[in-house]
Amino acid sequence: MSMAEHNLLVVDKDDDFVSAAKELFEGRLPVARSIEEASQTAESGDLRMLLLGPSFSNDESLEQIRNLHNQDPALILMMVADTVTADLLRGAMRAGVSDVIEAPLDEAKIEAAIEQFAHDVLKRRSAGKPVAEPVRTERGAIVTVTSAKGGSGKTVTATNVALLLNRIPDKKVVLVDADLQFGDVCLLLQLEPRFTMVNAAHELHHLDAEMLDSLLTEHPSGLKVLAAPLEPAFADDITTAGLMQMLDILQDNYDYVVVDTASMLDELILSLIEKADHVLMVVDMDLPSVKNAKLALETLRLLKFSTQNVQLVMNRNNSKAKLDNKEIESALKMEISAAVPSDAAVPNSVNEGRPIVETDPKGKVAKGFESVAELIAGKIPESTSKGGLFGRK
Ligand SMILES: Nc1ncnc2c1ncn2[C@@H]1O[C@H](COP(=O)(O)OP(=O)(O)OP(=O)(O)O)[C@@H](O)[C@H]1O
Ligand SMILES: [Mg+2]
Repeated sequence: MSMAEHNLLVVDKDDDFVSAAKELFEGRLPVARSIEEASQTAESGDLRMLLLGPSFSNDESLEQIRNLHNQDPALILMMVADTVTADLLRGAMRAGVSDVIEAPLDEAKIEAAIEQFAHDVLKRRSAGKPVAEPVRTERGAIVTVTSAKGGSGKTVTATNVALLLNRIPDKKVVLVDADLQFGDVCLLLQLEPRFTMVNAAHELHHLDAEMLDSLLTEHPSGLKVLAAPLEPAFADDITTAGLMQMLDILQDNYDYVVVDTASMLDELILSLIEKADHVLMVVDMDLPSVKNAKLALETLRLLKFSTQNVQLVMNRNNSKAKLDNKEIESALKMEISAAVPSDAAVPNSVNEGRPIVETDPKGKVAKGFESVAELIAGKIPESTSKGGLFGRK
């Protein structure tokens, strides 16, 4: 089992357990002796999974584990116990542990636990079922824009790509701002939403296409936007299942549902990745960005998520970075599908709230975004009829 080398930390006081785990994972495995120590290692950011040994099967330790889970909800926690009782299982689940495996440890049990975890994520995302009957036979494509590091250019990409897709005649496009705490899609598009997905979240039990449509905000181009909560505190009102239900409804009525996200790998993002027909992973040309993208891809592979729909978008392509495209491709074991050059016009467009595909549609940055949109929809028409600059100059 080499997949876990960099991502897995074994935590236990007990030498026997640690050496058994080491043997199972062929030696090269970081170890922490206490939850505190594990929490410090987790802060370094490279970890994806903790394997907690049998010495933590008590209430006090579970409380510590719960704090650790709150500190880093994306961390996958697996526990090993000498005997798995219903009480222990309940306590562990409440503390954020994904599964409790009965000792002695073996490879099959760990793999089964990881599979179960991935399965649960999928199940939760499909829990929200659409209320309305689908009116169209073909459902729209979900395009999830992600990155493993903040500030990589997700929102700039999501807004420009959504506008480009919206140029295609007879195609309806909606942009969903799923950066629940700090969503800034509306800022970039100079929109002042009257309603947000918080309103939709409060109506989930009778939400249908018509009601959801009435909560969208329209951009002068015709692009529709489902706005993020206006304040970070409201983000708590949005559950993964709730957002999945909204996407299901939108998919019935829109050809493209573009989803902007926050930079983390929690359950919501995993669900958005799983649900997507296209995942655009935006990678900045710097080392932390590439390192995090590598970890994110490894995590997806570890969770047995398909990376088949994932396409790499290289942002700030010509910036004075130390890495070249070949190095990045070999580090990520994936080809770069499209690239957007670095240009001072981008921050200007952000500050002015006027996306670059509208203000400078023939420029090289707009052409870069076009190459991204073409990954999804093929040739994008020139900006004349539907998109264009109307109302904006
Ligand atoms: N190609 C580019 N050239 C120059 N500047 C860029 C480019 N792409 C993005 N930027 C700048 O980087 C900043 C971050 O971009 P953006 O907000 O799209 O990133 P993000 O991934 O959505 O960030 P967050 O994780 O905070 O949501 C923007 O203010 C933008 O001006
Ligand atoms: Mg953003």
